[in-house]
Amino acid sequence: MPEIRKIIIDTDPGQDDAVAIMTALASPELEILGITAVAGNVPLTLTEKNARKICELAGRPDTRVFAGAEHPMVRKLVTAENVHGKTGLDGPTLPEPTMPLQDQDAVDFIIETLKREESGAVTICALGPLTNLGLALKREPKIAPRIREIVLMGGGLFEGGNVTPAAEFNIYVDPHAAALVLASGIPTVIVPLDCTHKVLTTAKRVAAFRGLATRPGIAVAEMLEFFERFDESKYGTDGGPLHDPCVIAYLLKPDLFSGRFINVSIETVSELTLGMTVADWWGVTNKPANATYLRDVDHEALFQLLIERIGRL
Ligand code: RIB
Ligand code: CA
Repeated sequence: MPEIRKIIIDTDPGQDDAVAIMTALASPELEILGITAVAGNVPLTLTEKNARKICELAGRPDTRVFAGAEHPMVRKLVTAENVHGKTGLDGPTLPEPTMPLQDQDAVDFIIETLKREESGAVTICALGPLTNLGLALKREPKIAPRIREIVLMGGGLFEGGNVTPAAEFNIYVDPHAAALVLASGIPTVIVPLDCTHKVLTTAKRVAAFRGLATRPGIAVAEMLEFFERFDESKYGTDGGPLHDPCVIAYLLKPDLFSGRFINVSIETVSELTLGMTVADWWGVTNKPANATYLRDVDHEALFQLLIERIGRL
């Protein structure tokens, strides 16, 4: 029996977040201690509701969902309704959630869980702006050495940015939180655009989700058909990049990915390049390595994994 990994999913659903969350809920190798919502793709009132809709769609209303930060640590909130739609989960028609939102604040939940669980037992899967994690580390620095690993979707180097020429959305929304996380010394894996832009929701792959002929499978196809429009027209590709499920796929099958242990620093001052992940891929600085930066992925095998797991719901 493979090791069961305890995880917290921090997220701003988001259609790609939804596929990541559903894949995690369908994977017995992962024990989801909680899902913490953060403002990002859409405001917090919607990301927390979307997280609950997704859990119910996956048949897991028992999952604990917490609401966290309504805005970044320093900057004003920037959202992405142009990509994700007004609800943040446009595509399928999903009922209003009936499962409860937990009373506890997400940042307090993160701190309390890391203090309660055995040191080194919990992995943080960050699928949105890093505000909740940044606040938790600031409020209680003692949790840093207790975190096993952070696997985050964010940043870009060879692919540039997707919200400015220099910055990827998750890092751009809260660069100060990202800088705090990368300075924390916590083992960190970064899944950047350089990797996720190779993971395209082609028509064949979307049809495979629809072909599951289950409510979750059809809903995923409808989410992707909405979500991919923006990037298809921007990049002229068959399908758009499916970012966040790469984080969960990395936990399930890390060998699908490759990258380098390098220094990654965050621009938090310049307006021109704010939120840029300055990744020292070629080792031209003497800055100490602080993250495993992924660049390549077996995208065909990754989609096989996602389709197989969603098919279990
Ligand atoms: O840049 C892509 C990231 O921003 C993804 O996590 C997407 O959901 C949005 O949050
Ligand atoms: Ca996201």
